[in-house]
Amino acid sequence: MAIGRRHFVRNTSLALGAALLSHKSTLATASFDARIEVLLNEELGTISPNIYGHFAENLGAVIYDGVWVGENSKIANVGGIRKNLVDALRKISSPVIRWPGGCFADSYDWKDGIGPTAKRPRRTNFWASDPLVRDQGNIPQKYDPNEFGTNEFVQFCKLTGSQPYLAANVRSLPSVDFYRWVEYCNSPAGSTTLADQRAAAGGKEPFNVRYWGIGNESWGCGGEMTPGEYATEFRRYAAWVPQFGMDLSFIASGPNDAEYKWTRGFFEGMLQKGSNALNRIWGLSLHYYSWNLSRGRTQNWDAGKGDAVKFEPVEWYELMREADKLESLIEGHWQVMNEFDAKRRIKLVVDEWGPWYKPGSEVAPAHILEQMITQRDAVMSGLTLDIFNRNPDKVTMANCAQLMNCLNSLFLASGDRFVTTPVYHVFQMYAAHQGAQAVRTEFLSPSITYDRDGQPANFWSLKGSASLRGKDLTLTVVNPDVGQPKEAEINLLGAEASSGRATILAASDIHAHNTFDNPNEVHARTESWSPTGRTPKFTFAPASVTLLQLKLA
Ligand code: AHR
Repeated sequence: MAIGRRHFVRNTSLALGAALLSHKSTLATASFDARIEVLLNEELGTISPNIYGHFAENLGAVIYDGVWVGENSKIANVGGIRKNLVDALRKISSPVIRWPGGCFADSYDWKDGIGPTAKRPRRTNFWASDPLVRDQGNIPQKYDPNEFGTNEFVQFCKLTGSQPYLAANVRSLPSVDFYRWVEYCNSPAGSTTLADQRAAAGGKEPFNVRYWGIGNESWGCGGEMTPGEYATEFRRYAAWVPQFGMDLSFIASGPNDAEYKWTRGFFEGMLQKGSNALNRIWGLSLHYYSWNLSRGRTQNWDAGKGDAVKFEPVEWYELMREADKLESLIEGHWQVMNEFDAKRRIKLVVDEWGPWYKPGSEVAPAHILEQMITQRDAVMSGLTLDIFNRNPDKVTMANCAQLMNCLNSLFLASGDRFVTTPVYHVFQMYAAHQGAQAVRTEFLSPSITYDRDGQPANFWSLKGSASLRGKDLTLTVVNPDVGQPKEAEINLLGAEASSGRATILAASDIHAHNTFDNPNEVHARTESWSPTGRTPKFTFAPASVTLLQLKLA
């Protein structure tokens, strides 16, 4: 629908080029709703495949009843790991998985999870006091059997073609335990007692784990530290770690959303030992959850949350607004980091992101923090992945929180039941961006106007990202408008299209979700589309995520 053309907005903070400005006047008289300018010659950087990473914490049913079903289970498994999960992750080219936490990491002793399974100690899980599991029996969510340990996790990664990213315990284990975990994983076959123990459990060759998080949320569950205190701990843990012939990439525990004080305080603390201290940091983590749907009424963590499934359009837009803030947070933390790291070597690792709703939509008891995933979460996830694609110079890794039976799950499982969520389809569609060259793309479109509790509010109506691999252009676009399709002219600056393909994730009901009984309610469909020339057109469905793959002449 050609609506509100007098109020075309530019969906970018970047200055308009003169050439683009000249198009603005033509939009007012155009027969389409929006224009997408793909500046094929303006490269932004290579999109790290790792921004399509995952996070699987030993929390609720992410591992037990999720990833791990056990070797003797009747549920199809590969060495105890749920088989349909492995198969599905391979299809989306899963690049990296973070484990064991999250908050759980800073209570975990990795030595509990090695050696013969029957001899491993049973422990109280960090999350055991959550009301969902507190009053239940000896379930793994409460009394952890440690069946899923380092070897099992690394095997899970191998089966799915992913790199392991281990988060080390800084709050409750000394640094020697961190060095020994590195030794267990990476020392050459036969070289150390720990390498022998690894081999006895089926891991003769070193695991070569490259990514190591030094703690998690050290400002909170990871130790309640000040940034200066954490900088001291980081230096200590990262000093003199055995390398075993490979470069280890240390990820420092970073800020939560807009906590710029943490970022600045951490770097200042690091520099107290001189600028060489910065060389030990490969990435700075950033956590950002979109949780406050109260439209400014409260900042209370519980009161601000909304329902996962029952929501009005205003809460749909509120989630989009919250999620959209991530781009300015990335920019803000990046600016602070650049004050200390002029060469811009240290990158951001957004190793927890996703929506977070009120409890109540769990598919089974004890599935702590599990929530039903709707089309709203798919659109929010597309919006987020586009932010990462647009910032390849700043973000080197991101991990969706969390893989299954949790917050922004790609999968829900309970016993032998298993289903992929709408977010899974988004990851499948966006996989085409992995490792490609991001190119600048500008979206000119009328903003959506809606009623925000009696006040008129605006939100952008089309946004996305583009990347190029040889002659293959991948363009992903989100239309967050709950009611209106958007017809756009795609202006290929510097090339012509010869053919193309469209894949669309749309649902007639914005609350649509996949369940065990109805697993295909939301699924991606391909549509015939034959783009040619410099200015092909496409109509983006309401409340949708679209993948356009164009072959350039
Ligand atoms: O993802 C759930 C929790 O959220 C993680 O354990 C923690 O790091 C964050 O606060």
